[in-house]
Amino acid sequence: MRVLVIGGGGREHTLVWKISQSPRVTDIFCAPGNPGIATLAECVPIQAGNIQDLLSFARDQSIDLTVVGPEAPLADGIADTFRQARLRIFGPGRMAARIETSKVFAKDLMRRHGIPTPSAETFTDVVRAQEYLRNHRLPVVIKADGLAQGKGVVVATTLDEAQQAVTDLLEQKVLGTSGSTTIIEEFVAGDELSIMALTDGNTVVPLLASRDYKRIFDNDQGPNTGGMGSFAPVGSVDTALMNRIANEILQPIVDALSSLGSPYRGLLYAGIMLTPDGPNVLECNARFGDPETQVVLSLLKTDLVDLLDGVVAHQLDTIPTIEWHEGAAVCVVLASGGYPGRPEVGKTIHGVEEAGKLDDVMVFHAGTAMTDKGLTTAGGRVLGVTALGSDHKAACAKAYEAAERITFDGIQYRTDICAEGV
Ligand code: GLY
Repeated sequence: MRVLVIGGGGREHTLVWKISQSPRVTDIFCAPGNPGIATLAECVPIQAGNIQDLLSFARDQSIDLTVVGPEAPLADGIADTFRQARLRIFGPGRMAARIETSKVFAKDLMRRHGIPTPSAETFTDVVRAQEYLRNHRLPVVIKADGLAQGKGVVVATTLDEAQQAVTDLLEQKVLGTSGSTTIIEEFVAGDELSIMALTDGNTVVPLLASRDYKRIFDNDQGPNTGGMGSFAPVGSVDTALMNRIANEILQPIVDALSSLGSPYRGLLYAGIMLTPDGPNVLECNARFGDPETQVVLSLLKTDLVDLLDGVVAHQLDTIPTIEWHEGAAVCVVLASGGYPGRPEVGKTIHGVEEAGKLDDVMVFHAGTAMTDKGLTTAGGRVLGVTALGSDHKAACAKAYEAAERITFDGIQYRTDICAEGV
C-alpha cells in the first residue's frame, strides 16, 4: 500500500512513525514533512494547503490512502475533493469538519441533541458583548468562532480581561474573520480529558484517553499554547466512563452530523471537562490532537493502517478490538524562546540523536529544519520527546531524562508534565 500523510508537525511525524510499522505499507510520502519524518518517509515539497497539487500527486503516484493531519486543509474541503476524484482519504469533509471550524455550529449541534456542553451566547457586536459581560459571573470563557491555531480561547478571571478579549476579537479583529463571531461561555471546573475516536460516520471506536497541558508554564500558568505535553492513559477513565462518553457524546455527535447529510469519516476529538455532573464537551476537533497523538499512538499495538482503512472503507464495525501496550506514555514538548508569541527560530539543536538512543524514547519533530548549520529550530513547538514506561512515573522520568539531553538557545519546556498523578 502506498500512503500519503499530509502535514509536517509532531502529530504527522507520529502518524508516519506508526504507519511505517505496518507490514501492509510499501511506500510512505509526507507533504511537506519535516527532518524527522524524512528519516521514515519521502518528503514531498507541497504545502498542506495546496489541495490541487496534493490531488495531482496522489493521482500520479497511485496513492492508496491519504491521511490528513492538520485542520486547515479539512476546512478547505480536501476530503471532498479527493473523494470526488475517487481517491481514498482519511478525514472528514468540509461540512462535517465544521464541528471544529465553527464553534457556533458545534455548540448549536450539541445543544439541539442534548449533548452536555457549557452554556454559551454568541456575539458579533462588541457593545452587546461588553454589556453581557458586565452582568455575567466570572470566570468566563471567550472563544473565537473560527480556526485560530490554539489562540482563540481566553479564560478570563477579571472583567477587564474579559472585556479586553472581546474587544480584541470583535473590534480589533486580532484573529481576522475567525473572531468576528465570538462565543462567551460559562466556565466549568474539573479535570480535562482528550478523547480521540475513529468513526466512519456510523460506528465509533474511542482510543485511549489522554490529557494535554495547554498553558505555557508549570502549574498551568501563562497563555495557552497548542499543547506543551501530554500523557496516556488517564487513570480516572474506566470502562464505565468511556462508555458514557461514547454513548452520550461521541455517538450522538456522529449521528447528528450524519442526519445533516455530512457523515463524519476520520478522527473525532472531544476536549472534555469531567465535572461533578459528568463529562461536558469544551471543544471538538476534526483531526488527531497534538501532542495527544504522540502518547496515544505510542501505546497502540494494533496496526494503525487497519484502523484507518476501516474508517475509509466504512467498515469500522468489522475491525477486531484494538490492542494497547501495557504501561504509560508521556510527551514533553520542547518549545522555542518567545513561544507562544513570536518564536525565535534558526537556533541549532543538539542532542536529538543522544536522546533517541534511550530505550523506549521517540523524539518526534515538529518545528525543525535541516540547514547548513545542521538541525535548527523552525517554529514554536520544536520537538515532542515521548517515552514509554511500565507506569506513568517511569514514563515521565524517561521523558525528562531524554529531554535533558537536548539543547538549543532559548529552549523552554514544562517540568510538571504528568507530575500531579494520573
Ligand atoms: N492538543 C489540543 C489540540 O490538538 O487541539
